[in-house]
Amino acid sequence: MKVLVLDGDGIGPEVNAQALAVLSVAADAAGLSLEVERALFGGASLDAHGLPVTDAVIADAKAADAVLLGAVGGPKWDDVAPHLRAERGLLRLRKELEVYANLRPARFSSALSAASPLRPERATGADFVIVRELVGGIYFGEPRGIDREAADPVGFNTMVYTRSGIERVARVAFELARQRGKRLTSVDKANVLEVTRYWREVVTELGATEYPDVALDHAYVDSYAMKMVANPRDADVVVTGNMFGDILSDLAAALTGSLGMLPSASIGAGGAVYEPVHGSAPDIAGQGKANPLGAILSVGMLLQHTAGRSDLKAAVDGAVQAALDDGLRTGDIAWGEPGTRQVGTVEIGQAVVDHLRSALEAGTVPLSA
Ligand code: IPM
Ligand code: MG
Repeated sequence: MKVLVLDGDGIGPEVNAQALAVLSVAADAAGLSLEVERALFGGASLDAHGLPVTDAVIADAKAADAVLLGAVGGPKWDDVAPHLRAERGLLRLRKELEVYANLRPARFSSALSAASPLRPERATGADFVIVRELVGGIYFGEPRGIDREAADPVGFNTMVYTRSGIERVARVAFELARQRGKRLTSVDKANVLEVTRYWREVVTELGATEYPDVALDHAYVDSYAMKMVANPRDADVVVTGNMFGDILSDLAAALTGSLGMLPSASIGAGGAVYEPVHGSAPDIAGQGKANPLGAILSVGMLLQHTAGRSDLKAAVDGAVQAALDDGLRTGDIAWGEPGTRQVGTVEIGQAVVDHLRSALEAGTVPLSA
């Protein structure tokens, strides 16, 4: 398995180091040979090459089985021209790899209930996946820009979805729903935006023709944001466009205790990208404090979706849970409950590695080699 590691900026390198350690233990246990390549990305690439991502890195990413991404951006590069922003590098990578379906699972863990803003009696059992369309919508629509010469200067973007663009991401969501609770919620703003009225129409048709066994419902994004907080247990698989998915997934992260806990997988036509949902956290970068669990859980998703090893994914998830059960907490999830201890990136990462190794050695994880 060829993995391209793009640490990026800020805490990216720190969390990725722990994620890679976990990946190599899992790969060893499974007899998967792992070929790791590294490249600069985001601000780091901008400093070295004058671009947030180079053509060579895009080519490497296409050639790899998976990309493991850290985080991009930071105040150092905040004032560069818009087309040079680190975020643009990330968007280009997603677009060039055509990773149109971004899976962002969120699960409430009772070990982290002190870190969640929700009362445990509301949130216990919440376990859902947001399937966010990732290479279309308002993030990529043309025309876009700022016209400063206009009599009344104007900024504008275009939200656009084609039928095929909706169908392919909806298919991923329907398939996932089939493997879970056979329920799918499609989130839109069909009461106002034509583009999402069309989204609703296409998803409804696809459901009726190809997935009659999946119970489909629809919600407006504003009311769904409220429901996600009020009744997080009701959510199962949620499919939505690029921008709504961006917003709802940060909201989902808060429910679980911290953005630092959320992994993601971006899959599609030309590759796969695995990355924690959190950003580069420049305020704590380089201090050994960052939470690597989102990155580690992303490795679990890589093992599931790229390596086809759900058993190893379960083993990684279990090892993360075991480290939390030991009481280990990084700063973002440390609320001083009895039996917990605040630790750094390396310590919690090492605990996950140790738990994973012993679970794999003890054979408590049934390996489906
Ligand atoms: C995310 C991030 C990115 C996005 C940024 C960094 C471009 O917020 O992955 O959710 O908006 O997609
Ligand atoms: Mg985001």
